[in-house]
Amino acid sequence: MVSSACFAELGHSVDIIEIDERKVEAINSGKPPIYEKGLEELLSKHVGSNLRAITGYDNVRNTDLSFICVGTPSGPDGSADLSMVETASRSIGESLKERVGYHVVVVKSTVPPGTTQNLVMSTVLMNSGGIREKLGFAMNPEFLREGLAVHDFMHPDRIVIGSSEAKARDLVESAYNGLNAPIVRVGLSAAEMTKYASNALLATKISFSNEIGNICKKMCIDVYEVMRGVGMDHRISPHFLNAGAGFGGSCFPKDVMAMIRLGEMLGEDPVLLKSVIEVNERQPLRMVELLENRIGSLFGKEIAVLGLAFKNDTDDVRDSRAVPVIKELKSKGARIRAYDPLAASNMRGIIPDIEYCESAAGALKKADACLIMTEWPEFGQLDEEFDLMRSRVIIEGRNILLCEDAEGICW
Ligand code: UDX
Repeated sequence: MVSSACFAELGHSVDIIEIDERKVEAINSGKPPIYEKGLEELLSKHVGSNLRAITGYDNVRNTDLSFICVGTPSGPDGSADLSMVETASRSIGESLKERVGYHVVVVKSTVPPGTTQNLVMSTVLMNSGGIREKLGFAMNPEFLREGLAVHDFMHPDRIVIGSSEAKARDLVESAYNGLNAPIVRVGLSAAEMTKYASNALLATKISFSNEIGNICKKMCIDVYEVMRGVGMDHRISPHFLNAGAGFGGSCFPKDVMAMIRLGEMLGEDPVLLKSVIEVNERQPLRMVELLENRIGSLFGKEIAVLGLAFKNDTDDVRDSRAVPVIKELKSKGARIRAYDPLAASNMRGIIPDIEYCESAAGALKKADACLIMTEWPEFGQLDEEFDLMRSRVIIEGRNILLCEDAEGICW
């Protein structure tokens, strides 16, 4: 969705192929099917001129480039499920049977190394009648952060393009004309691996900070003070060192798991990556332990949970650290009142049987304790609202509050 709107902003004529008719309708009436800062503005600017959503693949044959942007969710064993990539490749191939000029099929989905070469290329060629000279293949991973995805597309640190041949690479590169970023030109599999390695390293930084933070907490050291000094080393950088309740979202947990499975399939034992996941699974439960240390048994207690999205500025709750926390609270007999500025209705789909409130104050009223699970800036303004609680027992899983009496998960 974001790539389409941004390619339209760069001046291209873009078709979004989407099989869900409700989404097609929404997009064509200017309504993004996901929340993303700046996206609605881009839709209202381009829908009706150089951007449209359609359900069929027929028009692929009239285009120069097609980007495969479908999901690659975790399969039952954690490896990437490539069925949607295969289906899209088949449909693109069928449409390209009738293509007259050169066309490049670009994989943007996060896929294990070898997928573009082995699955996408062969599926497209088989279904298009196999005229190899007419077709180029490329792999062009995205590094967009949810909530900031439009900004990240327009201001990338780098654009990685893996390609089957220079002609294909040049065409993909030309699609990004107008952006000011270094181009990293590599082979197909190296591009695929770059995405996994980037996400795995960012996730590792977070779990690393959390582990150091857990040790700091025992010694009454503020891990944020420590990481300020650590991050100033230019070899480390200050980003992604924020300790807290762990990482969630549609990428880090799934991609690190897929990397682990890939290593294992190749006879490796990726101990570092396994630990990254293990720290991340233990981390949110520490919130509940801290809470029990403060107020004893949770049975019958009223707990306010502020923040449900996996991070701020999104309504996405996939792998949100709030989920294991709420499940643990429920299993211990607590009564939960939850609030999130955007994500309540998505969380209702996962956990329907808790009370959802319209405001932080509503959730806090008469609560025995409060847990902060998402780094929403508006939570930073909260202070007097905590006086509505039975007692000001506030435990932060994200370092966002300004009031002095909140206890951090590892600070
Ligand atoms: C991530 C990558 O950043 C992006 O490059 C990739 O394309 C998709 O995956 P995203 O999942 O949108 O982006 O969110 P991100 O901002 O990376 O945060 C992921 C999770 O890590 C969130 O739950 C966030 O709260 C947590 N996080 C992030 C930390 O706990 N500490 C940090 O320092 C940074």
